[in-house]
Amino acid sequence: MGSARIAVCILPSLSPVPQSVIRNPTPEIKKTLERVLSKAGLGSRSEARSWIHARRVRVNGRVVENPDHWVDLKRDKILFDNQPLAAAEKRYILLYKPKGYITTYGDPEKRPTVYDLIADAGTWVAPVGRLDLDTSGLLILTNDTAFAERMTNPDFHVPKTYLIKASTLLSDEQLERLRNGVELSDGPTRPAQVNRLRDSTKYTHLEMTITEGRNRQVRRMLEAVDSKVLELVRVGIGKLRIGNLPIGKWREMEPREL
Ligand code: URA
Repeated sequence: MGSARIAVCILPSLSPVPQSVIRNPTPEIKKTLERVLSKAGLGSRSEARSWIHARRVRVNGRVVENPDHWVDLKRDKILFDNQPLAAAEKRYILLYKPKGYITTYGDPEKRPTVYDLIADAGTWVAPVGRLDLDTSGLLILTNDTAFAERMTNPDFHVPKTYLIKASTLLSDEQLERLRNGVELSDGPTRPAQVNRLRDSTKYTHLEMTITEGRNRQVRRMLEAVDSKVLELVRVGIGKLRIGNLPIGKWREMEPREL
């Protein structure tokens, strides 16, 4: 756990409303204490909450036990175990997630999570978007929240490329519907790039690139054309490709890839 540096002071709260329900007036500077600790690369937000409750965090010399306490990063001085917070080194990790791993930290059902696969990474990072339990492929994890927000913001249309094994043979007309956009319960999908890779006797294998990241989007798109996904692998995000990264392994993103 590295040392951390962030200057801090509590602005006097003039309001009787609890800190946790006051909306953040200046989001660039003020953040909740819990978020500041996890952004400093120390651990997950739930871990940060438990440290705050355990009275290990001081703001301007006073122990603060409320994880939702707003701090002003320009003025407040935050100590964790009496050490100032160091700005965490930015990390960008590419993981080849296998099927059967969930994309969250901690699972009440105790299933394996992607954090089991990056335990040796040494820094707290969070997944950029999600892959379903049954999806394998490329997952980025980072502690750079601005980068993560940029990658997942629908306005930026970051393309994601999938290899799909459909449960049926798909006609040219079905592929054309996927290309043009299909109607889902949360609205029509944007146009997609769709290439037929090969047909076996019963299944079509295709590659599809979409520029959205809605929940279970690829699976729902296949259902909208009366088929189903049997296998789903994400092979690309933007220009990044999974390449020869072995399944279950991770590597740092290279600066040129950023
Ligand atoms: N689309 C899906 O349906 N599932 C994923 O995991 C990713 C994209």
